[in-house]
Amino acid sequence: MSSTSIQSVLQETRLFPPPADFAEGAKVGSMAAYEALYERAATDPEGFWAEIASELRWDRPWTQVLDWKLPDARWFVGGQLNLAANCVDRHAASWRRNKAAILFEGEPGDTRVITYGQLHRDVQRAANALLDLGVAKGDFVAIYMPMIPEAAIAMLACARIGAPHTVVFGGFSAEALRDRIADSRAKVVITADGGWRRGQVIPLKDNVDRAIEGTTIERVLVVKRCANAIAWHGPRDVWWHDAMAAAAPRHDAPPHDSEHTLFSLYTSGTTGKPKGILHTTGGYLTNAAYTTRLVFDLRDEDVFWCTADIGWVTGHSYVVYGPLANGATTLMYEGAPNQPGLDRFWDIIERWGVTVFYTAPTAIRAFMRWGDEHPAKHDLSSLRLLGSVGEPINPEAWMWYRKAIGGDRCPIVDTWWQTETGAIMISPLPGATPTKPGSATRPLPGIAADIVRKDGTPCGVNEGGFLVVRRPWPSMLRTIFGDHERFVTTYFSEVDGCYFAGDGARRDEDGYFWIMGRVDDVINVAGHRLSTMEVESALVSHPKVAEAAVVGRPDELKGQAIVAFVTPRSGVVANEELAKELREHVVAQIGALARPEDLRFAEALPKTRSGKIMRRLLREIASGSQSRGDTTTLEDQGVLERLASTFAQEE
Ligand code: WT7
Repeated sequence: MSSTSIQSVLQETRLFPPPADFAEGAKVGSMAAYEALYERAATDPEGFWAEIASELRWDRPWTQVLDWKLPDARWFVGGQLNLAANCVDRHAASWRRNKAAILFEGEPGDTRVITYGQLHRDVQRAANALLDLGVAKGDFVAIYMPMIPEAAIAMLACARIGAPHTVVFGGFSAEALRDRIADSRAKVVITADGGWRRGQVIPLKDNVDRAIEGTTIERVLVVKRCANAIAWHGPRDVWWHDAMAAAAPRHDAPPHDSEHTLFSLYTSGTTGKPKGILHTTGGYLTNAAYTTRLVFDLRDEDVFWCTADIGWVTGHSYVVYGPLANGATTLMYEGAPNQPGLDRFWDIIERWGVTVFYTAPTAIRAFMRWGDEHPAKHDLSSLRLLGSVGEPINPEAWMWYRKAIGGDRCPIVDTWWQTETGAIMISPLPGATPTKPGSATRPLPGIAADIVRKDGTPCGVNEGGFLVVRRPWPSMLRTIFGDHERFVTTYFSEVDGCYFAGDGARRDEDGYFWIMGRVDDVINVAGHRLSTMEVESALVSHPKVAEAAVVGRPDELKGQAIVAFVTPRSGVVANEELAKELREHVVAQIGALARPEDLRFAEALPKTRSGKIMRRLLREIASGSQSRGDTTTLEDQGVLERLASTFAQEE
């Protein structure tokens, strides 16, 4: 065993108890209190969730807490509420009127503070502006924006009028945007002339222009952010500021059914086609609000900074909806962590007095590599709690995070969840749970998470198995937009009667969960979820490619890196130039996040006799591991030998 793995095994057993001051004021202040709450929720889940949901403002009470016909679940049936009124109006009508709702910092250094009162005015106008553009309740609106306050305002305005939004990450290409618009049949897209990233303008509006031709999009609402030159197609295109100025200032929030669609968000599955994960209003907001309050032990004086982009579910739940539902102050930063210097994040924390900081392991590993001197230059004493999300965090990064950022005093919450779960599912409670580096610890009260074998029986201590959830929870996805059958087969067919997460996990002797990564063909690159099939489809859509196989290999910084094996069409010369062309082709099809790190040409791909690509084998080759396992079903042993030797040569 190498010294690092010995170290990580030792660290696994090391417990970090919650600091005393946390336990004192905490919502859940001891493990005994956690156990009691978990038990209560398990005994009476409906009573438990009803109590949590009742902290929201409902225009009409529900008649049934849960209507569960496996795999379909509906929550707070018959209840009506307005999500924007819950996140904005009720705080604007309280002492929080002049409290900061959004603290914004642009990459160039411009800043804005938006109070709940101001946010209320902006969201009302934006709602009217959307109605003026012809958006009606039930119409989908695509949002393709930088991390600026208007993105949050746009989401809230959509929710207010009952127009489901589908936010597309600004790093996705025009092609990827087109696919998502086509699938959601959005009527309007809200974008910006550009957004700042590493001192450059991301040409969002240009991408929109290329994406929407021949789609259902009728109008394009454009925020002026970078003042760069853009093509203008009036009357289709409308400036946000013009629409806002022309819109009526008041909009009374109409009640929507609890199960009214709030948003769809595309995420990668095991096929080439991303799936629109669909969430509804009452259950989603209940859980987003609950988990923000509980996991981050939220206090009114907090400055809450979740670094995720609103293009991901983390941005939905923990930049916008969770914090605002609680009347908290949420910070939005537009740009890159290394612009202009490697200390940009620590500078932001110091200047704004950030108290809760929530980011991804891939970012933490990058900070670690950049060196301790960058955080050390700044006063980070405002921080009281750190969070991690998106992929397993290695104990080394966890320890660095705790020491260099948390000053050895802030608890770390390692939060496991997914686009599909809508909100955090497994996480320490900072005032209660002793933490172990690398473990997301225990499921939250109300979450019936378990680790099971293929046949559904629970795994023993430290036995690896499938992560499942045995009972529905309010923010569970309701379907895959337009493909309910795929919803059923993906999540409810693997393990009888359970939600199947697609992750492998084990539970240790203390009942702590250790997430071991995906058990399907989904890879996690720098905290971004990608399907190997999606990248393969992008590659084979190139005229020079006959066949492609894509796998992930462990990467110190990104968690996983993309390795592509490509068989060119006959007569095509496979050289470095073609490799570059194909990489750029993937970027154009999906976005920079999908660019293969490694692209190898192969005469043929290793397949089983039934014609299935042997991914496990390719994974082993890609990560340079020696043992090849069982290859007796290999169609052509020679293919494997040749593949392995291309790698050996280049190393
Ligand atoms: C997948 C979900 C909603 C979180 C952002 C990513 C992995 C997420 C953890 C964690 C280990 C994690 C899982 C999961 N994952 N958090 N704390 N420890 N793995 O959302 O894109 O829907 O991806 O991310 O593999 O299935 P997502």
